[in-house]
Order: sequence, then C-alpha cells, then structure tokens
Amino acid sequence: MKEFAVKLEKLAEELMDLLCENLGLEKGYLKKAIYGSNGPNFGTKVSNYPPCPKPDLIKGLRAHTDAGGIILLFQDDKVSGLQLLKDGQWVDVPPMRHSIVVNLGDQIEVITNGKYKSVLHRVVAQTDGNRMSIASFYNPGNDAVIYPATALVEGEAKEADEAAYPKFVFEDYMKLYAALKFQAKEPRFQAMKAMESSPNLGPIATA
Ligand SMILES: [Fe+2]
Repeated sequence: MKEFAVKLEKLAEELMDLLCENLGLEKGYLKKAIYGSNGPNFGTKVSNYPPCPKPDLIKGLRAHTDAGGIILLFQDDKVSGLQLLKDGQWVDVPPMRHSIVVNLGDQIEVITNGKYKSVLHRVVAQTDGNRMSIASFYNPGNDAVIYPATALVEGEAKEADEAAYPKFVFEDYMKLYAALKFQAKEPRFQAMKAMESSPNLGPIATA
C-alpha cells in the first residue's frame, strides 16, 4: 500500500502539471498552491457496493462533487455503477480494465478560477455483482490557503480584486463540506466568500 500510494501521489502531481501546462501556469503551480506548510493530504478509500435486488429504491452513493484536489480512481473491472453529470444528463463511466478514472475536486475549480470544474457524480446500485472501487485523494494540506490563480482572473475582476471564487483555508472548507457534501457546490463557495468578508475573521494571512 505504501508503494502504491507513493506512485499514485507522483502520478497526481504529473497530472496537475499537465493541467498547469494547459492553463499556461508555471510547472508546479498547482502542487505549490495546495501544499500548505506540511504537504498534501493523501489518502486511499476502498468501497464495496453489494448487489441490490431493488436498485430503484436506494442510492449506492448520492450525487456530490469531491471537495479536494485530484482523485485517481480504480473502478471494478466488471461491475458498473458510476455516473457523472454532463450537460444535465447522467452519463455512465463504464468499467475499463487497467485504467484510472481522473476526477477533479472543488479546490481545483477554485484555483483554476473555474477553468476546470469539479464534476457531480454518483454511484447507482446494481442488481448483479459486487462493485469494488479504490479511490485515492490528493488533497491540499489543512492550512493551505486556496484562491484563484491571479493569472487566471481576468481584466476588471483582477483590478477590483473580485475573483468569482473565494479565498479560504482548506480545513475551513472541509468543516463546511462535512455538513453540505450532498448539496450543490455553489452555496459552499458563496459561504466561503461570505466568511472572507466577515469582520470577525479578519483577513487571511498570506505572507
Ligand atoms: Fe466522490
């Protein structure tokens, strides 16, 4: 598992550098942006979805966007169930042997100022077969200060210092996410934006 984690962590960083290249950000920007003072939070979650005789009555996993950075998912080789929302339609993400599904979380959406979006996904229960999945999360360090990359905030918004997305400490976002995971991400972003301007909290130190 240790070896597995080290390799996946490296892969996540390579993929983030590809995102940087696509966005015109310097190499290593995303890694640095989510590093915090003690490095990223990396974890692996193994899930087991048993077959269900009445899948229309239950949800395997309710729709949500992932909170963190970049997620690498090994799906079951045979049993499907994962779906993502594209243009208002639920689309199957079919099982594919020897492949990794790459998913982006809310933090990447904030840092890229919405150029890359976290995607709503869910797992639908199946009547046949057990589905097992292994998801690895490369998430920001707890004290990482997350905000849109200046290079990706355009013209007027940049001058007025009014990016569409909020600036916050990752662990504060996670406190909110714990309660609101299965709701739309927009109210979460708005709540963080509201905290940003709250006089009680004061400005977030970035130095
Ligand atoms: Fe998820």
